[in-house]
This record gives sequence, C-alpha cells and structure tokens, in this order.
Amino acid sequence: MQHRALISPSILSADIANLERDLTRISSADLIHIDVMDGHFTGNLTFGPNVVAACKRVCTAPLDVHMMVTNPDATIDWYLDAGADIITVHAEASTHLHRTIAHIKERGAQAGAVLNPATPVGLLEDILPDLDMVLLMSVNPGFGGQSFIEGCYAKIARLRELCERVGANPRIEVDGGISEKNIAKVAAAGADTFVAGSAVYNAEDPNAMIARLRTLAQNAIEAAR
Ligand code: DX5
Ligand code: ZN
Repeated sequence: MQHRALISPSILSADIANLERDLTRISSADLIHIDVMDGHFTGNLTFGPNVVAACKRVCTAPLDVHMMVTNPDATIDWYLDAGADIITVHAEASTHLHRTIAHIKERGAQAGAVLNPATPVGLLEDILPDLDMVLLMSVNPGFGGQSFIEGCYAKIARLRELCERVGANPRIEVDGGISEKNIAKVAAAGADTFVAGSAVYNAEDPNAMIARLRTLAQNAIEAAR
C-alpha cells in the first residue's frame, strides 16, 4: 500500500551562500533532500558531511541523504555521524548492497537503494524486504533542472507491482524533474515520496509550493486506492 505523500525539497537548488535562509524557505518540508556527489559517480561535486551537520543544526525535518558516490561504504559513516536520518545508496555503486543497507540500519538510520534510469527494478527483488525506501531516478543524476524521463511512469508502476508481489512496502521516492505539472501522475503510478529542487526553489513562495505539491500527490494517491 502506498504511504502518505511526503515532499523532500532538494537543497541542490538552494543558494548556498544563504543556506540558512533557504532552509527557512522550505520549513514546511517533510524531508530535506541532500545530494552528495563525489565528482566520479556523477560529473558534479557537491555536499560533504559538514553540510549535513549544518542542516541538522537548523532543520527539524529528517535529512534524506542521497549518496551519488563510488564506493559509498568508505564514507557512509561520516554522514551518519553528521545526523543523516535516511541514507540512500546507488545499487550501481555498491558491490555489497545487502551489507551496506544492514550497516545503515544498525546505525539507527533508515536505508534505501537508488536506481538510475537505465537500471531495471528487478535488480532489487531480493533486497526489497530490507529496504525502508527505494529511490528511482527520473533524470540521470548530477544536476537539478533536468526534464523528467517519461518512461519512468511505467517503471514506478513495475516497482510497485514487484513490492506487492514480494510483500515488501518500502517508500517509493522519485527524484528529478518533478513539478506541479507531473506530480499527480507520478503519484498515480505508485510513488509516495517526491524530491523537488527547481520546482520548489524557483517558486515565489517555496513553502506554498511544497503544500501544493503535497496536496496534488496525496489526492492522486487517494484517488488510486
Ligand atoms: C539530481 C539530484 C536531484 C536534483 C533534483 O542528480 O539527485 O535531487 O536536486 O532537482 P530537480 O527537482 O530540479 O530535477
Ligand atoms: Zn537527489
């Protein structure tokens, strides 16, 4: 069954010179999405554990840390120590995903696996019961402001079906190109957790946009029941 809709604004679209102000502009967020990129797994380099720790000091919402790094095992503990509440790691980057997920949970955080647009959902079949969250990328990771890849609607539905077949119920999060134009369709396909960077921060009132996105998604989830 789909969980209630949660909106996870991505601080990749924030003004880092004014990070505290821009965290206040998303104070109604359900989760705070922090994109960790290492310049190897993605062609971009972003936030380290110091930024996660800084967010922890000024945010009350759980921190949703998306690790786009090669060899995540080498650095996961830095982010757990910094206060990450949810850590998602790319299946493409993890050699021993089961062990990595178990480690995150042993440390008391929620654990999720991420799939790039070209990675099939079947790859997660045997680990789905251990996951708190599956994050499906709906753009190729690296940058905000890209367009949602249309084939992802069917992929979200395939993941929802797979979860039902194996009796698992992780949150299904979608990341990339989410806006008020497509969030209802993404929710109707089976997602319940929505990352939005540019859609939230480009809005005149980011908190109002979060509320609008949440309502659109929640209405679609209820209509699909
Ligand atoms: C992209 C990041 C996303 C990004 C989404 O690699 O993982 O979290 O911030 O930005 P938008 O919502 O602008 O596509
Ligand atoms: Zn992300």
